[in-house]
Amino acid sequence: MNILVVGGGGREHALCWALAASPLADALFCAPGNGGIAEVATCIDIDVMDFDGLLGFCRSEEIDFVVVGPEAPLVAGLVDALEAAGIKAFGPTAAAAVLEGSKAFTKDLCARAGIPTAAYERFSDAGAAKAHITAAGAPIVVKADGLAAGKGAIVCETVADGHAAVDEILGGRFGAAGAEIVVEAFLEGEEASFFALCDGRNALPLATAQDHKRAGDGDTGPNTGGMGAYSPAPVMTADLGETVMRRIIRPTLEAMAADGRPYTGVLYAGLMITADGPQLIEYNVRFGDPECQALLPRLMSDLLPALIAARDGVLDRFDLRWYPETALTVVMAARGYPGAYETGGEIGNLGAAGELPDITIFHAGTRADGGRIHASGGRVLGVTALGRDVAEARTRAYEAVDVIDWPGGFCRRDIGWRAIERDG
Ligand code: AMP
Ligand code: GLY
Repeated sequence: MNILVVGGGGREHALCWALAASPLADALFCAPGNGGIAEVATCIDIDVMDFDGLLGFCRSEEIDFVVVGPEAPLVAGLVDALEAAGIKAFGPTAAAAVLEGSKAFTKDLCARAGIPTAAYERFSDAGAAKAHITAAGAPIVVKADGLAAGKGAIVCETVADGHAAVDEILGGRFGAAGAEIVVEAFLEGEEASFFALCDGRNALPLATAQDHKRAGDGDTGPNTGGMGAYSPAPVMTADLGETVMRRIIRPTLEAMAADGRPYTGVLYAGLMITADGPQLIEYNVRFGDPECQALLPRLMSDLLPALIAARDGVLDRFDLRWYPETALTVVMAARGYPGAYETGGEIGNLGAAGELPDITIFHAGTRADGGRIHASGGRVLGVTALGRDVAEARTRAYEAVDVIDWPGGFCRRDIGWRAIERDG
């Protein structure tokens, strides 16, 4: 089969790395890809939002199957466009991707289907939102309805902060994505990510993971796209996983199908494990990044037939096998990220680091220049290690990080701390 992966981050490198290993894959392309993806796939310079360019490429290269990585083209309808042209594609349609594209839609769906989630109200009027926050008190969470690159949720410690967040979002900080807001109750607990493969009717649990969203050690500093992850997440016991499938994932699939928007693709549930059990914080309609870089190295089965089975609606006859090891990914980012940062610096010793036992290095913002690799983005590398437990995976990952020669980069030194504290 000829396969095209759409995207160019660490998640797409992990997807290409797994798909390249499939005996079913004849040719593997990635648009636009990056310096590391170029080692396992042919990178083509087409933007993820250039639907005409992608469609033209699929026709000329006789692409049989497209895997869409990021949310923006999914929400904008890339899968609809491909399928309308007769090209099989993995991922939700625009009508189903609204689970990530509109927090208000998702909250209303949860309310209808009885899915546990924080109590909420929707507003487009600042005065009404502020009056609600004054009455409800703090802490409270204010969110932009639409896509805001992971920055649209503001956890407010005081009522005054809540009022400021309302002004900021309704005032246009996130453009049209912030024309409506959701104000919701603050949930207390430990966060975990839960991934399920969905075919419109059936859901197959994939694995759990925990992300590290803040830029600094000890979960300090600004929010980022994610500075590291490990899988599985010890907080998500098998019992809790069952509860999540029964109370959150399956009712969501049923409600989406009943609404005429059957959900196909990866459903990524951001959860808060509270004293009352798991509650849904938000849905994403794709693999997490960097969670995907910790998840896929644990997958023993061939990824490609699983994605095709999801697209074809036959997941009920499917099963996946996983290695029992823990995987841990440390993200290396350009100094300054998530604020302003420099690009262009050369990264050395990647070969030596990648040859250490049980290490896989996934590239995000890199560019290959002859035999050299240069940084070209904010999050630049994801160094994944396998180990018997989080502690061993973490030791191995940092050994590899310390071999990499990149003066312009930094990473958190405490990825995995929650799981290690839990064990200790
Ligand atoms: P979201 O964009 O909805 O995933 O929110 C981003 C982050 O804000 C989450 O990962 C949580 O850390 C935090 N958050 C969002 N909603 C809540 C909530 N209702 N209670 C507590 N923390 C929340
Ligand atoms: N790592 C968080 C996300 O992919 O949304």
